[in-house]
Order: sequence, then structure tokens, then C-alpha cells
Amino acid sequence: MKIIDTPEEMQKQARLLIQSGEDIGFVPTMGCLHEGHLSLIRIAKEYADAVVVSIFVNPAQFGPNEDLDAYPRDFERDEKLCRETGADFLFYPTPQNMYLDGHSLWLSEESLSTVLCGASRPGHFRGVCTVVAKLLNIVMPDVMVLGEKDAQQLRVLRRMVRDLNFPVKIIAAPTVREADGLAMSSRNKYLTPAERKEAVCLSRSLEKAKALFAAGERDAERIKAAMRAVIEKTSGRIDYLEIVDDETLQCVSKLENPALTALAVKFSGARLIDNAVLR
Ligand code: PAJ
Repeated sequence: MKIIDTPEEMQKQARLLIQSGEDIGFVPTMGCLHEGHLSLIRIAKEYADAVVVSIFVNPAQFGPNEDLDAYPRDFERDEKLCRETGADFLFYPTPQNMYLDGHSLWLSEESLSTVLCGASRPGHFRGVCTVVAKLLNIVMPDVMVLGEKDAQQLRVLRRMVRDLNFPVKIIAAPTVREADGLAMSSRNKYLTPAERKEAVCLSRSLEKAKALFAAGERDAERIKAAMRAVIEKTSGRIDYLEIVDDETLQCVSKLENPALTALAVKFSGARLIDNAVLR
């Protein structure tokens, strides 16, 4: 596995791969890798000849009071995991190389980004879209693998690729969970031991929603009330808990088309998100 730390060098390498007829698979990450990230690398290997993983804690997607400085970083461990999982290239640029002095161009998706995480984290998806557009220009992949864990990010990036004609196919990877159902996340580390036990409430509330839906319930308010009751038994505070149309991400009151149920819950140490599609 080759480690590359400048955009110029990565572009040069990507051109060589393309010239030799190899399909490039790409997995963008912010590091502190866990089994969820590794599952994305394995999927990318199925679709491509050469797999590029990027590790970049993107300052532009963190708000002023968010955890940019505290975001967990462990390059040596990440490098070893990428190597063992079969990545061919690890792109690990510095913020200075990614955002040159005077950087003044930003990319905003203006519909899907305004709700859910976009409403509670203003500017977040502008940072995500900008960095992923840059990474796509640098890595020039045929295929990019993204996790369903970040359902809104997946939909916003699909829209970006569609609306701006990026020549890349997006593959969605299922959420990898701990044995008790908690979705794996780099931020789970911030939870106290007591909160870690309580954090299973997110996936439990989604299970509750799926069970009600399977039993024929189609009223969004009733499903949300049952989900809220699961969270309210814990010390977690609901940031949002919504049922939205899976295409438009607008709130629905009756579940007729596929719906996305998504929630964010704040514990003292971390804000966690999870989601499920009801169809
Ligand atoms: P990060 O949170 O590191 O996640 C990188 C990728 O891993 C995303 O596509 C995310 O959805 C996926 N992922 C995270 N946890 C997962 C899990 N438990 N199961 C399956 N996939 C999981 O998302 C980002 O970084 C950034 O916003 C990024 C896209 C890299 C842009 O900076």
C-alpha cells in the first residue's frame, strides 16, 4: 500500500492507473477507522482494480462549537488497518494542502441539506460537498463507496454527483453495528461506560419503528411517539427524531412511499445518529 500526502501526487497516481486501464474505487473517511469503514474498503475491492482510501479530518464540515480538535486521530493504527484490509493507496493530505490560503469556493446543496443534520449543523453539508468534490477531482474514481449510516450525507452526495455530472458511481454500504445494535462510529469512544450502555436506545427506537410499520402502522406521529419513548428512558437528549420521505427528505404524516426515519441523540460526550428506511 502506497501512502500519498499531496493532491498533486495523488492526481498523478490516479492518471497512471487510468492510463493502464484500471478501475479506481474510492472510500473517503476521516480516519479513526472501525469495522464500518473496513466494510466499505472490502466493497470497493469488489468493484474496482485499485482502491484508494482517504483519511482527512475536514475542518470545513465542523461547526465553531463542534469537536474538530477533539476528533479522534490515530494514523498508525489506521494505516495498518487499511493495509490489512487490502487498500492499494492511502491518501492522507494536510489541511494546508487541501485548503490553500485564500480558499474561497464552496459547494452547497440547497434542498436535502436543509433538514435533519443540516438544520442542527449549519454549514456541515457545504463542508462535506466541497471536500468530497475536491477528493473526486483528486482521486478520479470510477466508484465511490459511502455508508448508509450517514443516510443524509449519502443522499446529498448522490444529488451532488447527479446535478454536477461527476463521472462516478456511488455504492451504498449497509450500516455495521456492535453486537447490541449500536451503529459503529468513531464518536462512540466519547461515551462514558454508562452512556455506552444507554446508546443502544437509538437502534432500539428504530427497531420499534420497524416493528410498528411491519404491523401496519402508517401514522408518522404515532411511530415517532413510540420511538421518543425509547430514548426518553435514557440520559440522551433528542436533537431531532423525524420520519421523512426517502427521496425529498421532507416530513411526512402518513407513510405511503418509502420513508426514512432518522434521529440524532446527544449524550454528555457525543452526539450520535442512526436511521432506517421503512418500506
Ligand atoms: P467518516 O465519518 O469517517 O465516515 C466515512 C464513511 O464511513 C462514510 O461513508 C460513512 O457513512 C461510513 N461509515 C461510518 N460508520 C459506518 C458504519 N457503522 N457502517 C457502515 N459505514 C459507516 O463521513 C465522513 O467520514 C465524512 O463526512 C467524509 C465523507 C469523509 C467527508 O469528509
